[in-house]
Amino acid sequence: MRFTRIAGTGHHVPPRVVTNHDLEQLMDTSDEWIRERTGIRERRFVEPGTGSSVLGAEAARAALKDAGWKPTDVQFIVFATVSPDLYFPGCGVLLQAALGIPEIGALDVRNQCTGFVYGLAVVDAFIRMGMYDRVLLVGSEVHSAGLQMNTAGRDTAVLFGDGAGAVCLEVTTGEDGSRLLWHHLHADGRFARELSILSPGSANSPWITKEMVDDGSAFPHMNGREVFKHAVTRFPEVIESVLASQKLSRDDLDLVIPHQANERITEAVRKRLGVDESKVYSNIAKYGNTTAASIPIALSEAVSDGKVKRGNLVCLAAFGSGFTWGASLLRY
Ligand code: UT7
Repeated sequence: MRFTRIAGTGHHVPPRVVTNHDLEQLMDTSDEWIRERTGIRERRFVEPGTGSSVLGAEAARAALKDAGWKPTDVQFIVFATVSPDLYFPGCGVLLQAALGIPEIGALDVRNQCTGFVYGLAVVDAFIRMGMYDRVLLVGSEVHSAGLQMNTAGRDTAVLFGDGAGAVCLEVTTGEDGSRLLWHHLHADGRFARELSILSPGSANSPWITKEMVDDGSAFPHMNGREVFKHAVTRFPEVIESVLASQKLSRDDLDLVIPHQANERITEAVRKRLGVDESKVYSNIAKYGNTTAASIPIALSEAVSDGKVKRGNLVCLAAFGSGFTWGASLLRY
């Protein structure tokens, strides 16, 4: 039998810390509002001009080291981001060039906050079917370059941060129990515009104008309450369904790593699942919402802190723009 296991994890966040008080200087907001509504205290921002592929390459190098792989051991790259360096080509090829692994395939995943979970399911399918034995999966975001850093953009500008996480995934027989178990992926495109950036885009003609920048459509737009309402339902639903697919229950879980969207969402999900605080990972206070990077950053931290050990049952779950949501269940 062919299964997939995590051979190594790594993450990288830029050193520049931006506190809620720093944001108070740029827009009409307060540390108290941000902490109470979201749980965020600070986030990391890159130095201007640093793209997502650069953070992704740092995270990838850390994951390769953890796995004991050379870059040339990688047979395929999957890169999840909503903040690519370029409109095209995607970050996968930029990462490939940065790591010096010419000619292997590189796929970009555009599933926003659920990008890492979608990417993991794709890699698992490739490995199980025998197409590849060793794949590098990266989630990376540089949000700071694309936020509207004034009062008009405050409802989203205070939420997002920069960072990257990566995992090395390899084929296994699964005999020692360490393997990805299953994934459930969902989307509901009727809500596509509830959390979106509307331009540049081919639905506009021309696809970008100065007016689009001035009127804010080139920046994130979010119907926060609608996103919140769906998130607190979909997270527990998909966690329960992926557990049920393996005839497991919430009591079997060692750790849930939810996408870090909002501490209030994480807490609502924890209560609905009825699991102890120690079983739900949270680092949003330090990094804010890092979209496709939040789960691999959290996983890498949890592994290096000893909160995830070999054999533990871990559920990775995400909800976000699309709407998209999903969960991956694994024995680490
Ligand atoms: O990764 C997935 C993507 N995102 C999410 O999961 C986010 C889901 N949504 C949320 O987390 C919450 O809806 C937010 C944290 C974004 C907002 O919290 P809320 O409790 O839903 O606030 P609200 O949008 O209803 O706004 C309440 C008030 C408004 O003022 P009025 O109309 O009551 O006078 C806003 O204008 O807060 C105001 N406000 C702010 N005030 C200070 C909005 N943003 C800010 C801000 N600082 N940054």
